Amino acid sequence: MAFGKIPRFSPSFSLAEAAIAARYLARRGEDTPVVRKFEAEFADYIGVKHAVMVPSARYGFFLILKGWGLGEGDEVIMPALTYFAIPALAKTAGVKPVFADIGLHTHVLDPAAFEAAITPRTKAVVPTHLFGTPCDMDAIRKIAKKHKIKVIEDCAQSTGARYKGSQMGSFGDASYYTFGLTKNITTLSGAMITTDDDALAANLRGKMAAAQPGGLKKSAQEAVTGTAMMVATHPFVYPWTLHPLIRLGNLLGKDPIHERFGEAERLYPELPEHYAKSAPRAVQAAVGRKQLERIETLNGARSANGRFLDDSLGNLSDLGVPTYPEGAEPIYMSFVVHHSNRAKLAKELRKRGVDTTIGYMSNCADSALFPEEASSCPNADRAFEELLHIPVHPNLTSSDREHLAEAVRQACMACRP
Ligand SMILES: Cc1ncc(COP(=O)(O)O)c(C=O)c1O
Repeated sequence: MAFGKIPRFSPSFSLAEAAIAARYLARRGEDTPVVRKFEAEFADYIGVKHAVMVPSARYGFFLILKGWGLGEGDEVIMPALTYFAIPALAKTAGVKPVFADIGLHTHVLDPAAFEAAITPRTKAVVPTHLFGTPCDMDAIRKIAKKHKIKVIEDCAQSTGARYKGSQMGSFGDASYYTFGLTKNITTLSGAMITTDDDALAANLRGKMAAAQPGGLKKSAQEAVTGTAMMVATHPFVYPWTLHPLIRLGNLLGKDPIHERFGEAERLYPELPEHYAKSAPRAVQAAVGRKQLERIETLNGARSANGRFLDDSLGNLSDLGVPTYPEGAEPIYMSFVVHHSNRAKLAKELRKRGVDTTIGYMSNCADSALFPEEASSCPNADRAFEELLHIPVHPNLTSSDREHLAEAVRQACMACRP
Protein backbone atom coordinates (compact mmCIF):
# COMPACT_ATOMS: atom_id res chain seq x y z
CA MET A 1 0.00 0.00 0.00
CA ALA A 2 1.13 3.55 -0.74
CA PHE A 3 1.63 4.41 2.95
CA GLY A 4 -2.14 4.70 3.40
CA LYS A 5 -2.49 7.01 0.40
CA ILE A 6 -4.69 5.94 -2.51
CA PRO A 7 -4.82 7.86 -5.81
CA ARG A 8 -8.17 8.26 -7.55
CA PHE A 9 -6.78 6.67 -10.69
CA SER A 10 -3.67 5.11 -12.07
CA PRO A 11 -3.08 4.80 -15.81
CA SER A 12 -3.16 1.43 -17.55
CA PHE A 13 -0.20 2.72 -19.57
CA SER A 14 2.95 0.77 -18.61
CA LEU A 15 6.66 0.72 -19.46
CA ALA A 16 5.94 -1.76 -22.26
CA GLU A 17 3.60 0.72 -23.96
CA ALA A 18 5.96 3.64 -23.26
CA ALA A 19 8.73 1.75 -25.10
CA ILE A 20 6.40 1.03 -28.05
CA ALA A 21 5.35 4.68 -28.16
CA ALA A 22 9.01 5.82 -28.22
CA ARG A 23 9.82 3.35 -31.04
CA TYR A 24 6.85 4.37 -33.20
CA LEU A 25 7.35 8.09 -32.59
CA ALA A 26 10.87 7.75 -33.99
CA ARG A 27 9.80 5.49 -36.89
CA ARG A 28 9.17 6.84 -40.39
CA GLY A 29 6.76 4.45 -42.02
CA GLU A 30 3.20 4.18 -43.26
CA ASP A 31 0.43 4.49 -40.69
CA THR A 32 -2.31 2.54 -42.48
CA PRO A 33 -0.99 -1.05 -42.12
CA VAL A 34 -0.59 -0.72 -38.34
CA VAL A 35 -3.98 1.03 -37.97
CA ARG A 36 -5.63 -1.75 -40.02
CA LYS A 37 -4.09 -4.46 -37.82
CA PHE A 38 -5.41 -2.78 -34.66
CA GLU A 39 -8.83 -2.35 -36.25
CA ALA A 40 -8.97 -6.02 -37.29
CA GLU A 41 -7.91 -7.22 -33.83
CA PHE A 42 -10.42 -4.90 -32.16
CA ALA A 43 -13.28 -6.04 -34.42
CA ASP A 44 -12.37 -9.61 -33.61
CA TYR A 45 -12.29 -8.86 -29.86
CA ILE A 46 -15.74 -7.23 -29.91
CA GLY A 47 -17.16 -9.82 -32.30
CA VAL A 48 -18.27 -7.48 -35.11
CA LYS A 49 -17.49 -7.16 -38.83
CA HIS A 50 -15.84 -3.74 -38.90
CA ALA A 51 -13.79 -1.52 -36.62
CA VAL A 52 -12.67 1.91 -37.83
CA MET A 53 -10.23 4.00 -35.82
CA VAL A 54 -11.22 7.66 -35.44
CA PRO A 55 -9.69 10.62 -33.56
CA SER A 56 -12.33 10.84 -30.82
CA ALA A 57 -15.57 9.20 -29.76
CA ARG A 58 -17.56 12.44 -30.12
CA TYR A 59 -16.38 12.88 -33.73
CA GLY A 60 -17.10 9.19 -34.32
CA PHE A 61 -20.64 9.74 -33.04
CA PHE A 62 -21.04 12.74 -35.37
CA LEU A 63 -19.77 10.65 -38.33
CA ILE A 64 -22.24 7.86 -37.52
CA LEU A 65 -25.17 10.31 -37.52
CA LYS A 66 -24.00 11.86 -40.78
CA GLY A 67 -23.16 8.47 -42.30
CA TRP A 68 -26.80 7.45 -41.82
CA GLY A 69 -28.00 10.75 -43.23
CA LEU A 70 -29.51 12.06 -39.97
CA GLY A 71 -29.97 15.81 -39.61
CA GLU A 72 -32.56 18.57 -39.28
CA GLY A 73 -35.88 17.33 -37.85
CA ASP A 74 -34.42 14.10 -36.45
CA GLU A 75 -34.15 13.20 -32.76
CA VAL A 76 -31.75 10.96 -30.88
CA ILE A 77 -32.60 9.75 -27.38
CA MET A 78 -29.78 9.56 -24.85
CA PRO A 79 -29.47 9.35 -21.07
CA ALA A 80 -29.61 12.66 -19.21
CA LEU A 81 -26.50 11.78 -17.21
CA THR A 82 -23.85 11.73 -19.89
CA TYR A 83 -20.74 13.40 -21.28
CA PHE A 84 -21.72 16.85 -22.59
CA ALA A 85 -19.83 16.43 -25.89
CA ILE A 86 -22.23 13.75 -27.19
CA PRO A 87 -25.43 15.88 -27.15
CA ALA A 88 -23.28 18.86 -28.21
CA LEU A 89 -22.12 17.02 -31.35
CA ALA A 90 -25.67 15.79 -32.04
CA LYS A 91 -26.63 19.45 -32.25
CA THR A 92 -23.67 20.18 -34.53
CA ALA A 93 -25.07 17.49 -36.83
CA GLY A 94 -28.46 19.26 -36.71
CA VAL A 95 -30.03 16.44 -34.69
CA LYS A 96 -32.02 17.17 -31.52
CA PRO A 97 -30.77 15.34 -28.41
CA VAL A 98 -33.70 14.13 -26.30
CA PHE A 99 -32.80 13.31 -22.71
CA ALA A 100 -34.34 10.35 -20.88
CA ASP A 101 -33.82 9.44 -17.24
CA ILE A 102 -31.45 6.85 -15.83
CA GLY A 103 -31.96 4.16 -13.22
CA LEU A 104 -31.14 5.81 -9.88
CA HIS A 105 -28.47 3.30 -8.89
CA THR A 106 -27.63 1.64 -12.23
CA HIS A 107 -26.81 5.13 -13.62
CA VAL A 108 -27.65 3.91 -17.14
CA LEU A 109 -30.58 4.57 -19.47
CA ASP A 110 -33.92 3.42 -18.02
CA PRO A 111 -35.67 1.44 -20.80
CA ALA A 112 -39.11 2.72 -19.72
CA ALA A 113 -37.89 6.34 -19.86
CA PHE A 114 -36.42 5.64 -23.31
CA GLU A 115 -39.74 4.30 -24.59
CA ALA A 116 -41.65 7.26 -23.12
CA ALA A 117 -39.34 9.72 -24.94
CA ILE A 118 -39.97 8.25 -28.42
CA THR A 119 -41.69 10.51 -30.97
CA PRO A 120 -42.30 10.05 -34.72
CA ARG A 121 -39.00 11.96 -35.23
CA THR A 122 -36.85 9.56 -33.15
CA LYS A 123 -34.19 7.98 -35.36
CA ALA A 124 -31.71 6.56 -32.87
CA VAL A 125 -31.08 5.80 -29.20
CA VAL A 126 -27.72 5.96 -27.42
CA PRO A 127 -27.48 3.45 -24.58
CA THR A 128 -24.44 4.73 -22.67
CA HIS A 129 -22.76 2.03 -20.61
CA LEU A 130 -21.72 4.60 -18.04
CA PHE A 131 -19.06 3.81 -15.43
CA GLY A 132 -18.49 0.45 -17.15
CA THR A 133 -22.05 -0.77 -16.43
CA PRO A 134 -23.87 -2.36 -19.37
CA CYS A 135 -27.41 -1.14 -20.08
CA ASP A 136 -30.34 -3.55 -20.18
CA MET A 137 -29.75 -4.35 -23.85
CA ASP A 138 -32.56 -6.92 -24.20
CA ALA A 139 -35.15 -4.32 -23.20
CA ILE A 140 -33.54 -1.48 -25.18
CA ARG A 141 -33.18 -3.53 -28.37
CA LYS A 142 -36.75 -4.79 -28.13
CA ILE A 143 -38.12 -1.24 -27.88
CA ALA A 144 -35.78 0.02 -30.62
CA LYS A 145 -36.84 -2.80 -32.94
CA LYS A 146 -40.54 -2.19 -32.31
CA HIS A 147 -40.18 1.51 -33.22
CA LYS A 148 -37.56 0.98 -36.00
CA ILE A 149 -34.95 3.02 -34.15
CA LYS A 150 -31.21 2.55 -34.65
CA VAL A 151 -29.07 1.74 -31.62
CA ILE A 152 -25.72 3.52 -31.14
CA GLU A 153 -23.90 2.08 -28.13
CA ASP A 154 -21.73 4.51 -26.16
CA CYS A 155 -18.91 2.23 -25.00
CA ALA A 156 -16.57 5.10 -24.07
CA GLN A 157 -16.43 3.77 -20.51
CA SER A 158 -17.08 0.10 -21.11
CA THR A 159 -14.53 -1.43 -23.50
CA GLY A 160 -14.53 -5.12 -22.62
CA ALA A 161 -17.71 -5.13 -20.49
CA ARG A 162 -20.24 -7.81 -21.41
CA TYR A 163 -23.99 -8.37 -21.31
CA LYS A 164 -25.20 -11.97 -21.15
CA GLY A 165 -21.77 -13.09 -22.35
CA SER A 166 -21.43 -10.79 -25.39
CA GLN A 167 -19.23 -7.73 -25.68
CA MET A 168 -20.69 -4.25 -25.32
CA GLY A 169 -20.58 -2.76 -28.78
CA SER A 170 -21.80 -5.96 -30.40
CA PHE A 171 -25.49 -5.15 -29.76
CA GLY A 172 -25.88 -1.83 -31.55
CA ASP A 173 -26.15 -0.88 -35.22
CA ALA A 174 -22.96 1.07 -34.49
CA SER A 175 -20.88 1.70 -31.36
CA TYR A 176 -18.09 4.00 -30.26
CA TYR A 177 -15.23 3.62 -27.76
CA THR A 178 -12.56 6.04 -26.57
CA PHE A 179 -8.97 5.46 -25.48
CA GLY A 180 -7.76 8.56 -23.62
CA LEU A 181 -5.14 8.26 -20.89
CA THR A 182 -7.68 7.92 -18.09
CA LYS A 183 -9.60 5.10 -19.79
CA ASN A 184 -9.21 1.37 -19.13
CA ILE A 185 -7.09 1.01 -22.26
CA THR A 186 -5.34 3.87 -24.01
CA THR A 187 -4.01 4.72 -27.45
CA LEU A 188 -2.65 8.09 -26.22
CA SER A 189 -5.90 9.68 -27.42
CA GLY A 190 -7.93 8.10 -30.17
CA ALA A 191 -11.16 6.19 -30.48
CA MET A 192 -12.90 3.41 -32.41
CA ILE A 193 -16.22 2.75 -34.10
CA THR A 194 -17.53 -0.75 -34.61
CA THR A 195 -20.40 -1.84 -36.83
CA ASP A 196 -21.75 -4.66 -38.96
CA ASP A 197 -23.08 -2.06 -41.41
CA ASP A 198 -20.87 -2.36 -44.54
CA ALA A 199 -21.99 0.96 -46.02
CA LEU A 200 -21.36 2.87 -42.80
CA ALA A 201 -17.92 1.29 -42.39
CA ALA A 202 -16.99 2.20 -46.00
CA ASN A 203 -18.21 5.77 -45.42
CA LEU A 204 -16.13 6.10 -42.22
CA ARG A 205 -13.03 4.65 -43.87
CA GLY A 206 -13.42 7.14 -46.70
CA LYS A 207 -13.62 10.01 -44.20
CA MET A 208 -10.47 8.83 -42.41
CA ALA A 209 -8.60 8.31 -45.70
CA ALA A 210 -9.43 11.88 -46.72
CA ALA A 211 -8.31 13.35 -43.37
CA GLN A 212 -4.81 14.61 -42.74
CA PRO A 213 -2.78 12.44 -40.34
CA GLY A 214 -2.80 13.70 -36.75
CA GLY A 215 0.29 15.47 -35.44
CA LEU A 216 2.80 13.28 -33.62
CA LYS A 217 3.35 16.04 -31.06
CA LYS A 218 0.03 15.21 -29.38
CA SER A 219 0.91 11.50 -29.12
CA ALA A 220 4.36 12.40 -27.76
CA GLN A 221 2.76 14.70 -25.15
CA GLU A 222 0.29 12.00 -24.15
CA ALA A 223 3.11 9.43 -23.87
CA VAL A 224 5.04 11.79 -21.58
CA THR A 225 1.92 12.52 -19.48
CA GLY A 226 1.09 8.79 -19.30
CA THR A 227 4.61 7.96 -18.15
CA ALA A 228 4.54 10.83 -15.63
CA MET A 229 1.16 9.61 -14.26
CA MET A 230 2.51 6.05 -14.08
CA VAL A 231 5.44 7.26 -11.96
CA ALA A 232 3.44 9.79 -9.92
CA THR A 233 0.83 7.19 -8.90
CA HIS A 234 3.42 4.53 -8.03
CA PRO A 235 2.96 3.46 -4.38
CA PHE A 236 6.45 4.67 -3.39
CA VAL A 237 6.17 7.99 -5.22
CA TYR A 238 2.53 9.04 -4.84
CA PRO A 239 2.53 9.83 -1.08
CA TRP A 240 5.42 12.30 -1.48
CA THR A 241 4.55 13.95 -4.81
CA LEU A 242 1.06 13.91 -6.27
CA HIS A 243 -0.75 13.39 -2.97
CA PRO A 244 0.65 16.57 -1.30
CA LEU A 245 0.02 18.48 -4.54
CA ILE A 246 -3.62 17.41 -4.57
CA ARG A 247 -3.97 18.27 -0.86
CA LEU A 248 -2.47 21.70 -1.49
CA GLY A 249 -4.81 22.19 -4.45
CA ASN A 250 -7.79 21.18 -2.27
CA LEU A 251 -6.79 23.72 0.38
CA LEU A 252 -6.78 26.38 -2.35
CA GLY A 253 -10.19 25.18 -3.51
CA LYS A 254 -8.83 23.54 -6.69
CA ASP A 255 -8.54 20.06 -8.08
CA PRO A 256 -5.29 19.81 -10.12
CA ILE A 257 -6.16 16.44 -11.71
CA HIS A 258 -9.63 17.57 -12.70
CA GLU A 259 -8.09 20.65 -14.26
CA ARG A 260 -5.53 18.61 -16.24
CA PHE A 261 -7.95 15.98 -17.56
CA GLY A 262 -11.27 17.84 -17.56
CA GLU A 263 -12.52 20.11 -20.32
CA ALA A 264 -14.77 23.15 -20.43
CA GLU A 265 -18.31 22.24 -21.45
CA ARG A 266 -19.42 23.94 -24.64
CA LEU A 267 -21.40 23.58 -27.82
CA TYR A 268 -19.80 23.18 -31.23
CA PRO A 269 -21.70 25.42 -33.66
CA GLU A 270 -19.14 24.34 -36.29
CA LEU A 271 -17.23 21.08 -36.44
CA PRO A 272 -13.73 21.95 -35.08
CA GLU A 273 -11.29 22.19 -37.99
CA HIS A 274 -8.67 20.01 -36.36
CA TYR A 275 -11.02 16.99 -36.57
CA ALA A 276 -10.21 16.70 -40.27
CA LYS A 277 -6.49 16.82 -39.45
CA SER A 278 -6.43 14.02 -36.91
CA ALA A 279 -6.48 10.69 -38.78
CA PRO A 280 -5.08 8.02 -36.43
CA ARG A 281 -1.35 7.32 -36.53
CA ALA A 282 0.66 4.11 -36.31
CA VAL A 283 1.94 5.02 -32.83
CA GLN A 284 -1.62 5.12 -31.46
CA ALA A 285 -2.54 1.82 -33.10
CA ALA A 286 0.68 0.12 -31.95
CA VAL A 287 0.06 1.16 -28.33
CA GLY A 288 -3.58 0.05 -28.71
CA ARG A 289 -2.55 -3.40 -29.96
CA LYS A 290 -0.37 -3.92 -26.88
CA GLN A 291 -3.14 -2.68 -24.58
CA LEU A 292 -5.64 -5.01 -26.24
CA GLU A 293 -3.38 -7.95 -25.33
CA ARG A 294 -3.71 -6.90 -21.67
CA ILE A 295 -7.32 -5.76 -21.58
CA GLU A 296 -8.75 -8.87 -19.91
CA THR A 297 -6.09 -8.74 -17.17
CA LEU A 298 -6.63 -5.00 -16.61
CA ASN A 299 -10.43 -5.31 -16.57
CA GLY A 300 -10.20 -8.44 -14.40
CA ALA A 301 -8.21 -6.59 -11.72
CA ARG A 302 -10.60 -3.63 -11.89
CA SER A 303 -13.63 -5.90 -11.58
CA ALA A 304 -12.17 -7.80 -8.62
CA ASN A 305 -11.73 -4.44 -6.86
CA GLY A 306 -15.25 -3.38 -7.82
CA ARG A 307 -16.82 -6.61 -6.55
CA PHE A 308 -14.92 -6.22 -3.29
CA LEU A 309 -16.36 -2.72 -2.87
CA ASP A 310 -19.86 -4.01 -3.77
CA ASP A 311 -19.56 -6.58 -0.97
CA SER A 312 -17.88 -4.30 1.57
CA LEU A 313 -19.95 -1.13 1.21
CA GLY A 314 -23.38 -2.61 0.55
CA ASN A 315 -24.49 -2.51 4.17
CA LEU A 316 -23.70 1.14 4.93
CA SER A 317 -27.06 2.83 5.37
CA ASP A 318 -25.77 6.31 4.41
CA LEU A 319 -24.43 5.18 1.05
CA GLY A 320 -26.27 4.35 -2.16
CA VAL A 321 -24.15 1.68 -3.84
CA PRO A 322 -24.37 0.74 -7.53
CA THR A 323 -26.77 -1.89 -8.83
CA TYR A 324 -26.47 -3.60 -12.21
CA PRO A 325 -29.08 -4.58 -14.80
CA GLU A 326 -29.71 -8.32 -14.87
CA GLY A 327 -27.21 -10.02 -17.18
CA ALA A 328 -24.72 -7.13 -16.99
CA GLU A 329 -21.03 -7.98 -16.52
CA PRO A 330 -19.59 -4.56 -15.60
CA ILE A 331 -15.91 -3.63 -15.82
CA TYR A 332 -16.12 -1.05 -12.99
CA MET A 333 -14.57 1.77 -14.97
CA SER A 334 -15.66 3.86 -11.97
CA PHE A 335 -17.15 2.88 -8.63
CA VAL A 336 -19.65 5.57 -7.69
CA VAL A 337 -21.63 5.96 -4.49
CA HIS A 338 -24.51 8.29 -3.61
CA HIS A 339 -24.15 10.35 -0.45
CA SER A 340 -26.39 13.22 0.68
CA ASN A 341 -23.30 15.29 1.62
CA ARG A 342 -20.64 14.18 -0.84
CA ALA A 343 -18.42 17.24 -0.25
CA LYS A 344 -18.09 16.26 3.40
CA LEU A 345 -17.62 12.60 2.52
CA ALA A 346 -14.84 13.53 0.06
CA LYS A 347 -13.17 15.68 2.73
CA GLU A 348 -13.33 12.88 5.30
CA LEU A 349 -11.93 10.42 2.76
CA ARG A 350 -9.06 12.74 1.89
CA LYS A 351 -8.21 13.01 5.59
CA ARG A 352 -7.84 9.24 5.47
CA GLY A 353 -5.56 9.32 2.41
CA VAL A 354 -8.22 8.43 -0.21
CA ASP A 355 -8.44 10.74 -3.20
CA THR A 356 -11.83 11.00 -4.89
CA THR A 357 -13.54 12.95 -7.64
CA ILE A 358 -17.05 13.94 -8.60
CA GLY A 359 -16.17 12.97 -12.17
CA TYR A 360 -17.05 14.60 -15.47
CA MET A 361 -20.66 13.68 -16.16
CA SER A 362 -23.40 16.29 -16.34
CA ASN A 363 -27.13 16.20 -16.03
CA CYS A 364 -27.65 17.42 -19.59
CA ALA A 365 -31.44 17.49 -19.11
CA ASP A 366 -30.90 20.43 -16.73
CA SER A 367 -27.90 22.20 -18.19
CA ALA A 368 -27.29 25.76 -19.36
CA LEU A 369 -25.86 24.21 -22.55
CA PHE A 370 -29.16 22.61 -23.56
CA PRO A 371 -31.99 24.93 -22.45
CA GLU A 372 -34.27 24.02 -25.35
CA GLU A 373 -33.84 20.32 -24.68
CA ALA A 374 -34.46 20.53 -20.90
CA SER A 375 -36.61 17.73 -19.47
CA SER A 376 -37.51 16.33 -16.09
CA CYS A 377 -35.09 13.54 -15.08
CA PRO A 378 -35.19 13.24 -11.27
CA ASN A 379 -32.77 10.32 -11.04
CA ALA A 380 -30.16 12.13 -13.14
CA ASP A 381 -30.70 15.22 -10.94
CA ARG A 382 -29.97 13.21 -7.83
CA ALA A 383 -27.00 11.39 -9.32
CA PHE A 384 -25.53 14.70 -10.46
CA GLU A 385 -25.79 16.10 -6.91
CA GLU A 386 -24.79 13.00 -4.96
CA LEU A 387 -22.28 10.84 -6.84
CA LEU A 388 -18.71 10.45 -5.64
CA HIS A 389 -16.09 8.19 -7.26
CA ILE A 390 -14.26 5.75 -4.99
CA PRO A 391 -10.90 4.52 -6.42
CA VAL A 392 -11.22 1.16 -8.21
CA HIS A 393 -8.28 1.15 -10.64
CA PRO A 394 -6.41 -2.09 -11.41
CA ASN A 395 -3.26 -1.11 -9.50
CA LEU A 396 -4.95 -1.32 -6.08
CA THR A 397 -3.46 -4.01 -3.86
CA SER A 398 -5.56 -6.14 -1.53
CA SER A 399 -4.37 -4.06 1.44
CA ASP A 400 -5.41 -0.89 -0.46
CA ARG A 401 -8.87 -2.38 -0.82
CA GLU A 402 -9.13 -3.16 2.89
CA HIS A 403 -7.92 0.34 3.74
CA LEU A 404 -10.39 1.85 1.26
CA ALA A 405 -13.39 0.01 2.65
CA GLU A 406 -12.43 0.94 6.21
CA ALA A 407 -11.83 4.58 5.21
CA VAL A 408 -15.28 4.77 3.59
CA ARG A 409 -16.90 3.26 6.69
CA GLN A 410 -15.13 5.73 8.99
CA ALA A 411 -15.80 8.68 6.67
CA CYS A 412 -19.53 7.83 6.62
CA MET A 413 -19.59 7.73 10.40
CA ALA A 414 -17.77 11.09 10.57
CA CYS A 415 -20.43 12.57 8.26
CA ARG A 416 -23.32 11.54 10.54
CA PRO A 417 -24.93 14.45 12.39
C1 LIG B 1 -19.58 8.35 -21.70
C2 LIG B 1 -18.68 9.10 -22.65
N1 LIG B 1 -19.09 9.28 -23.91
C3 LIG B 1 -18.33 9.96 -24.80
C4 LIG B 1 -17.09 10.47 -24.45
C5 LIG B 1 -16.32 11.28 -25.46
O1 LIG B 1 -15.10 10.67 -25.80
P1 LIG B 1 -14.04 11.54 -26.63
O2 LIG B 1 -13.34 12.40 -25.64
O3 LIG B 1 -13.13 10.52 -27.26
O4 LIG B 1 -14.78 12.33 -27.62
C6 LIG B 1 -16.62 10.28 -23.15
C7 LIG B 1 -15.29 10.80 -22.76
O5 LIG B 1 -14.74 10.46 -21.76
C8 LIG B 1 -17.43 9.58 -22.22
O6 LIG B 1 -17.03 9.38 -20.96
